[in-house]
Amino acid sequence: MCNKLRYFAQFALLGLLFSGSSAFAQGSVVASKHDFTVGGSAQETTSETDQVCVFCHTPHGADITAPVPLWNKVLNSAQGRFTRYSTLATPTFDSLEAPVGSVSLACLSCHDGTQAMDVVLNSPGSGGYNAAGDEIDTLNVGQMSGTPVPNLGEDLSNDHPVSMQYAGGGPLASDAIGVFGGTLGDDDFNPPFKDEINGQSIWWVDSNVGTAGTREKTDMLLYTRDETSVAGGAQPFVECGSCHDPHNSDNAGGLQVSFLRTTNAASAVCTACHTK
Ligand code: HEC
Ligand code: HEC
Ligand code: HEC
Ligand code: HEC
Repeated sequence: MCNKLRYFAQFALLGLLFSGSSAFAQGSVVASKHDFTVGGSAQETTSETDQVCVFCHTPHGADITAPVPLWNKVLNSAQGRFTRYSTLATPTFDSLEAPVGSVSLACLSCHDGTQAMDVVLNSPGSGGYNAAGDEIDTLNVGQMSGTPVPNLGEDLSNDHPVSMQYAGGGPLASDAIGVFGGTLGDDDFNPPFKDEINGQSIWWVDSNVGTAGTREKTDMLLYTRDETSVAGGAQPFVECGSCHDPHNSDNAGGLQVSFLRTTNAASAVCTACHTK
């Protein structure tokens, strides 16, 4: 092996070691299945813009139907259209549901297959705002295909439940900061952690990577919801974003596939929450 080649081989090995050993090396949204620009791996890509974020975020004029950061898409919160997991009536399901909302509604703005994936409120460039939403590329980007995944459709009964209390309820905003010390509605779950930012409660369940007791993107994030349909006030809910980080690409050579927050080796995503 010539020197140059050996050098390269060592480098490649180093790269492998790094991607293999560091379970929390973050991928990027660029070139991922959430990249609709040229070179992206989304189902359908456009040549109209090279801006990767614009398909989901806008710096101004965002849709605030759900608390998702600067959301650039039309959110359809009409509830009648969703079939919930609870309609299966499994005898063991014991978490109260809130309407399909929060970050799940944002994911479903593409993953329910009902609107073109490039419909945005604020198209790239000056004067691009339209409250009703406009397609960035009418020729090349349509609705998501592929049932039941990646197009989940509006029937969510065949998907892991979302927009329901964590662990049958228990944690409340009035709890002390730190690990939950009370009784969970369903004790087959790990206790969540609570912290406060700007006077608001935030919750998560620690994954097996990163620092214990600290909220990180590689933890299972729980989303605060305060719904009149769920007694007790603000409390933690499970949403699509609890298991997935939409920016964390699966093609970075790491262990995280399917935009998962952490590796699911040995079902670590599942056992972060479920004690099974
Ligand atoms: C396919 C849709 C999608 C694309 C493309 C996307 N995002 Fe996001 N982004 C989301 C969603 C959904 C959330 C809320 C996620 C959550 O609750 O953890 C979010 C949250 C965020 C947040 C706040 C939470 C965090 O993880 O820090 C930032 C900042 C952000 N996005 C920046 C960006 C930037 C910058 C780009 C482009 C380089 C981008 N996003 C591209 C969907 C997207
Ligand atoms: C702008 C439209 C859009 C939004 C919003 C969006 N997705 Fe996607 N998502 C896609 C497309 C397109 C694909 C690629 C589907 C395919 O071809 O397999 C995809 C793929 C995925 C995949 C599969 C990745 C893989 O490796 O196969 C997951 C998981 C996923 N999305 C989760 C989410 C979650 C969770 C959210 C919200 C936090 C979200 N998506 C929001 C368009 C979107
Ligand atoms: C409790 C955890 C959890 C929740 C909540 C969750 N997912 Fe997933 N999802 C997963 C796991 C784990 C995988 C990987 C499955 C695999 O390896 O086949 C996955 C895979 C996917 C895929 C890729 C499927 C494929 O084979 O191409 C899509 C798309 C997806 N999820 C979207 C969503 C959306 C949208 C939501 C919210 C409505 C959601 N997920 C909620 C855990 C979850
Ligand atoms: C963020 C926490 C979280 C993660 C991660 C998670 N779950 Fe769940 N899961 C829940 C909650 C909360 C419920 C609903 C509460 C209940 O059933 O008591 C639930 C419900 C379920 C149910 C339905 C239970 C019933 O009684 O009908 C199954 C099955 C399940 N999860 C399997 C999984 C699998 C498999 C994984 C990994 C791919 C996973 N979960 C990851 C929190 C989680």
